[in-house]
Amino acid sequence: MGTYVPEKVLTNSDLERMVDTSDDWIRCRTGIVERRVVEGDTATSDLAAAAAKKALEDAGINDSEIDLILVATSTPDMIFPSTACLVQSKLGINGCAAFDIQAACSGFVYGLTVASQFIESGMYKTVLLIGADAFTKHINWEDRNTCILFGDGAGAFVLHEVENGYGLLSSYLMADGRGADLLKIPAGGSAHPGSEYSVQNKLHFVQMNGNAVFKFAVRILHEAAIGALTKAGLTVGDIDYLIPHQANIRIIDAAMERLGIDRNKIILNLEKYGNTSTASIPLALYDLYNSGDLKRGDLLLFVGFGAGLTWGANIIRWV
Ligand code: COA
Repeated sequence: MGTYVPEKVLTNSDLERMVDTSDDWIRCRTGIVERRVVEGDTATSDLAAAAAKKALEDAGINDSEIDLILVATSTPDMIFPSTACLVQSKLGINGCAAFDIQAACSGFVYGLTVASQFIESGMYKTVLLIGADAFTKHINWEDRNTCILFGDGAGAFVLHEVENGYGLLSSYLMADGRGADLLKIPAGGSAHPGSEYSVQNKLHFVQMNGNAVFKFAVRILHEAAIGALTKAGLTVGDIDYLIPHQANIRIIDAAMERLGIDRNKIILNLEKYGNTSTASIPLALYDLYNSGDLKRGDLLLFVGFGAGLTWGANIIRWV
């Protein structure tokens, strides 16, 4: 496992000087205190490659053993080639497959599920899965509804076969395209390619209906958690650690209260990183991994949600 966050810290106090907001408002309404932001021409593939290098070192494997590079991102460097191919080149890895997965902030939960399918089917032995996003490149820094929420980062994992009963035990994936308008970056794709109009109308920035996304998230965090637990034949009481997508502390609190899980089992890092999209679950898991508390046999529940709308959950027994 390896992670990377950019060095530049953007605090709530910094945001107070940019838009009509306050540190107190952001802390109370979101739980976020600061976030990391990329600078200059740093792109998502740079974050992804930096995290991947650490993961490869941590796994102690040879680059040639990687069969597939999978990058979950919704802020790719460009429309094509895929960020996975750019990461492959930056890592100097040759002779493996590479592609991206786009499921917005649910990307890591989706990506882990896809990666594990290749391993379970026997098609590949070793998959490098990376969740990486540079959302702040797509933020309108005059929009206080969105600019306070997001940060940048990446988390990478080297995945391979484990003994029965360990690793990924179940996945629950869901989407509802009827909610596509609630959270989107309208321009830059084939619907609205870059144009004078798209730039003038700020269509290359994140647009969000915050209240609707909030209500959706509270509802589906519970649904996804129960969905993955049921598939694995487990109950909430069996879970040792729950890592929810780090979007807003009030979303997490409301959903977790409904789920009836102990607060001390929930891993949080949104205070220091904000919403890092596909990197948020990996970054939180890395904190837990480094704390030394995680032990063999622990049951982990990951729950993600995001644009699409997409949502999902994974249950993992730590090896
Ligand atoms: N600073 C100060 N005031 C702000 C503000 C900010 N950054 N953003 C909004 N406000 C104001 C609003 O204008 C509104 O003022 P009004 O009552 O005078 O109209 C008031 O605060 C309440 O706005 P509201 O939108 O109801 O706040 P909220 O409690 O719902 O919080 C979000 C807004 C965006 C933090 C919240 O809706 C949210 O987190 N939604 C989910 C977003 C998310 O997770 N997206 C990613 C999903 S992967």
